[in-house]
Amino acid sequence: MPTSDLAPVVDSTAVFMPDIFKGKVLFCTGGGSGICRAMTEAVMRHGADATIVGRNVERITKTAAELAAATGRACLPAQADVRQPKLLQDAVKKTIERFGRIDFVICGAAGNFLAPISGLSENAFRTVVEIDTLGTYNTIKATLPHVRESKGAYIHVSATLHWRGTPYQVHVSAAKAGVDATSAVLAVEEGPRGVRSNVIAPGPIAGTEGMDRLSNKSGDRQQGWSSALGRLGDVRDVANTAVFLFSDAASFVSGQVIAVDGASESIRGFT
Ligand code: HXC
Repeated sequence: MPTSDLAPVVDSTAVFMPDIFKGKVLFCTGGGSGICRAMTEAVMRHGADATIVGRNVERITKTAAELAAATGRACLPAQADVRQPKLLQDAVKKTIERFGRIDFVICGAAGNFLAPISGLSENAFRTVVEIDTLGTYNTIKATLPHVRESKGAYIHVSATLHWRGTPYQVHVSAAKAGVDATSAVLAVEEGPRGVRSNVIAPGPIAGTEGMDRLSNKSGDRQQGWSSALGRLGDVRDVANTAVFLFSDAASFVSGQVIAVDGASESIRGFT
């Protein structure tokens, strides 16, 4: 399913009041596509304006226009590579000039491919750790002064694959473990200032680039993936969780890793 054809995130609108994020501003890295795009859309549908950050300027420009049209809110595309702090600082500056504040941050930019330890170069390992872990740190560093001011919240996009050994994923496993740890430290250091930090760990979510990259391209893309709920996840399942975590309903939830995986990890634990 091309992300531009996504249906509105009606599920969350039905559960949460439509204007819970009125006057709020989201800063989302990796927001040009997939899970991060869906989370941004859901937060905008509840009243927030947003900046989406990505490397591909055409993609983020197109996505920003689509999100604005779909939600009636403003969406600013800002080109940046999360490995480059200066570019992230520029994206934050543009956001403040345009919207005046940052309440919510999604650290979602990530990189992945399948490769065994023996076939992975040092640079390949470093590249994924730099995008996922260092990119998360860089995003926190660039946004924190503003999130402190708004007593806002962070969501970091991680995974479940590093909870036990997953073959061909040593680089991502190391990187996502670092993301989880970074979020926990952020939660305890900044909690006294009213800042919350949580991790969403998506399981198998249909139609995403991550699933494409991890699936057997020669066969059924969904082969080998299952959950206790008997289906793959949908990007809207993750988006609804993000709405909850940013909302006042989660005002005492911080330092947590929330799996959105239909208990697929639990199944894996028994096999
Ligand atoms: C082995 C590979 C490789 C592969 C790249 N490399 N692809 N090695 N197998 N398939 C190596 C290269 O040879 C190089 O090492 C090093 O990695 C850096 O590659 P570059 O192409 O120069 O890096 P860059 O242009 O920065 O691209 C980064 C990338 C790319 C991660 C390699 O795939 C990317 O931009 N991905 C972004 C989109 C993405 O991956 N989305 C999925 C996220 S899903 P050498 O030694 O040759 O210099 C996700 C969820 C996980 O994260 C959990 C899902 C359940």
